[in-house]
Amino acid sequence: MAGGAIVNTGGGKEYPGKLTLFVFITCVVAATGGLIFGYDIGISGGVTLMDPFLRKFFPEVFRKKEDDKSTNQYCKFDSQLLTTFTSSLYLAALVASFFASWVTRVFGRKWSMLGGGLTFLVGAALNGAAQNILMLILGRILLGIGVGFANQSVPVYLSEMAPAKLRGMLNIGFQLMITVGILAANLINYGTDKIKAGWGWRVSLALAAVPAAIITVGSVFLPDTPNSLIERGYPEEAQRMLRRIRGTDDIHDEYGDLVAASEESKLVRYPWANIVKRKYRPQLTMAILIPFFQQLTGINVIMFYAPVLFQTIGFGSNASLMSALITGLVNVFATFVSIFTVDKLGRRKLFLEGGAQMIVCQIIVGTLIAIKFGTSGEGHLSKAYAAFVVLFICIYVAGFAWSWGPLGWLVPSEIFPLEIRSAGQSINVAVNMFFTFAIAQAFLAMLCHMKFGLFYFFAGWVLIMTTFISLFLPETKNVPIEEMVLVWKSHWFWGKFIADEDVHVGKAETGKGFVHVGEAATEMTNRKPK
Ligand code: BGC
Repeated sequence: MAGGAIVNTGGGKEYPGKLTLFVFITCVVAATGGLIFGYDIGISGGVTLMDPFLRKFFPEVFRKKEDDKSTNQYCKFDSQLLTTFTSSLYLAALVASFFASWVTRVFGRKWSMLGGGLTFLVGAALNGAAQNILMLILGRILLGIGVGFANQSVPVYLSEMAPAKLRGMLNIGFQLMITVGILAANLINYGTDKIKAGWGWRVSLALAAVPAAIITVGSVFLPDTPNSLIERGYPEEAQRMLRRIRGTDDIHDEYGDLVAASEESKLVRYPWANIVKRKYRPQLTMAILIPFFQQLTGINVIMFYAPVLFQTIGFGSNASLMSALITGLVNVFATFVSIFTVDKLGRRKLFLEGGAQMIVCQIIVGTLIAIKFGTSGEGHLSKAYAAFVVLFICIYVAGFAWSWGPLGWLVPSEIFPLEIRSAGQSINVAVNMFFTFAIAQAFLAMLCHMKFGLFYFFAGWVLIMTTFISLFLPETKNVPIEEMVLVWKSHWFWGKFIADEDVHVGKAETGKGFVHVGEAATEMTNRKPK
């Protein structure tokens, strides 16, 4: 069977209500949490290329760079110390996401976001004012903690707030903000690099305070999700909130399901011990493999090192920054494609199409570079040839921007039952951060050793992940988040991990008690696709 899922998820159960202005604004504000992550991804690569910054904090690296007369294009920028500085943030984020899990569950999603924004703000101030390496590193650790908290809470918040049939669209606001943050950072670096007096890097680092202030102030005004309010024992407020975000008084069904999910989740006191249980194996597998695969697409080679990469393949330093800006723009605009299609085409189609597109482009780019630089790394690109390389890199970035980019955050945030949702999201963030770190750390050395083969290496991984999605990821579009277990239960492979008695679709409020899987699954397969 080619498709992963046998259940018809074209039309999930539908609750009454519409997309209200209130929920839309709430989601836009929450999504700005993605700005801090994006700004940081975009800013570090450029700053670490600035001479005054290097001279002040990494004089050794600066001297080495000045002395380096090597003409081997593949090995020009290999410096571990510098990449350690860049990637230290991701390790801090990794650790923080586990604390964030607890805050998100016990105090609510909103406070996790506020905590993330505030910590990031302090980190930005420390970095902008840094006098020594200690301040610099301390600042980066605080930024990392901020990212860990925001990435843990924002995607879950968005998925819980959104009506099921628009969940993809609203959740992808987070990824959109990531791409805007990256682009803004690239533009700012472009400007500050030109400041002759040598303090441009301070401006770049300090401006991280702007996105931090946005999410900090924004989160003060955000309401918490009905799911979290019920989980923390505020049923009346939860009902009020549900009425407000759905724009209708007819919330009985949805509220009933949320209460039932919460009742079930109360039976689970230790999410971390429970998440390894057999019945959660499908979700746990996805929480680990999706972020792992997302990073193995090789996207951050472009995001972190675009200027370096473009210089490596023969652009001058100004031209390479321009090309990096172009990929940044493609990244933002292509994200809209997923925003407008994810709830119609579904997650699987985007994953499969984006994956195929990335494989083809990586093979073409690797081959184009191989033809010019071979294995020696010596050679020169003509303008037209270089433009061709940039074109295929852009098509690759577009493929990522409407598949693994947004879906890498959306899918893990919507597949967990309430009782393990926070824990599952922490695993997602931690794995993502670990491999972001690993790739940032390894890329320059890999380019030096694997040469053009690096592009084939990532193409191979994208082939593996695309096959994995086609076999093992069921379609989740339009399925209410608290009913997701049915999707796993009806999957040809994952179904056997979930016993019939593990499937409860709540009707606690309506007095019907739990609906048994047979009944619920039939109900689901009978639904007409839209
Ligand atoms: C990824 C980042 C990546 C960004 C690019 C995000 O979804 O998690 O690692 O840099 O997309 O837009």
